[in-house]
Amino acid sequence: MAFKTIALFGANGQIGNCILRALLGCKRQSFNIIAFISPNKKLQVAEQAQHVETYNFDLTTARREDLAAALKEVDVVVSALNGKALKAQGLIQDAAADAGVKRFYPSEYGMHNIYRKPGESEGVCSSFLRHPAVNSGKMTYTLIGCGDFYNQDREKVWCPWTQKDVDSYTFHIIGDADAKADYTHLDDFAAYLVASLCESEKSENAMLNFPSDHISHNEIAALLQRYSGRPVKKDIISHEEMHRVVADPSQAPRELQGASSFPVDFWFLVKGIQGEGRFWRPKGQTHNHLFPEVQRTTFEQYFQQRFA
Ligand SMILES: NC(=O)c1ccc[n+]([C@@H]2O[C@H](COP(=O)([O-])OP(=O)(O)OC[C@H]3O[C@@H](n4cnc5c(N)ncnc54)[C@H](OP(=O)(O)O)[C@@H]3O)[C@@H](O)[C@H]2O)c1
Repeated sequence: MAFKTIALFGANGQIGNCILRALLGCKRQSFNIIAFISPNKKLQVAEQAQHVETYNFDLTTARREDLAAALKEVDVVVSALNGKALKAQGLIQDAAADAGVKRFYPSEYGMHNIYRKPGESEGVCSSFLRHPAVNSGKMTYTLIGCGDFYNQDREKVWCPWTQKDVDSYTFHIIGDADAKADYTHLDDFAAYLVASLCESEKSENAMLNFPSDHISHNEIAALLQRYSGRPVKKDIISHEEMHRVVADPSQAPRELQGASSFPVDFWFLVKGIQGEGRFWRPKGQTHNHLFPEVQRTTFEQYFQQRFA
């Protein structure tokens, strides 16, 4: 069964807008799209905006019954929320259950690596999968994990290779620069999510993962130097410093403070786990093969296009 009507929360966000464009560009089927965006905002999509119905909701104050009314006739809720609005996802899932929504995609687009102090063991959590509507079989879920999104143009420190008009690049690396990690291209991810909507049986009650590349900082640096013709400087940071910054984010170097849309301690956490060689999924835990029509864009292909 293919889903028809999709409610997309956070449709103006970085990931949400990629998903919106992938939904609009889907060649296999057309979707009815309902975009949920912040109050007083317009939907940011250049083409085909007339095919999208838009609702403005402040999700920090939204009421369950209002959301349920807006979700009537909706088959799937896809959340691409972030920040404070993430807390509203429980309410959205409750309202979706009231409205008879069949599938829920929580905004969990990453890697479930839990911070470990030295000597601690790790764990995984996600409450959306234990919702009563899911448990009773009325609603199903799809959780799509991925690697580090590597083509976030707004992330100067996180994705230094995206920056234009620079004479050189600086990689801030925590730990081992030869440790390989999983990375995902935003458009690959959005195409994968849409493919999972088109073939809903394959993605029913599933935790799927889609990496585009598996590569180390040293390998990325070599490719970037080759294709850009510019030098790459490496600032190697120790794991001791990572633990210091996680305990007290004000300890982070000044040039890294406020350099990302994420808090600096989160940056240290993700980069530190990459540099420990733990930021990748083992065999059997990646699901690219389920939707083989979705191509992986490797770093090399990305640089070839970017510096063509
Ligand atoms: N794997 C990775 O490397 C990676 C990287 C980045 C993000 N992510 C994950 O991807 C997900 C989305 O992140 P993103 O980068 O797309 O975030 P984002 O650009 O900040 O987008 C979040 C969206 O939520 C909307 N929103 C925030 N507060 C709201 C409210 N009170 N009411 C209504 N809407 C509200 C925002 O609306 P406005 O546009 O009006 O502000 C925005 O459109 C998150 O789960 C994040 O953790 C993963």
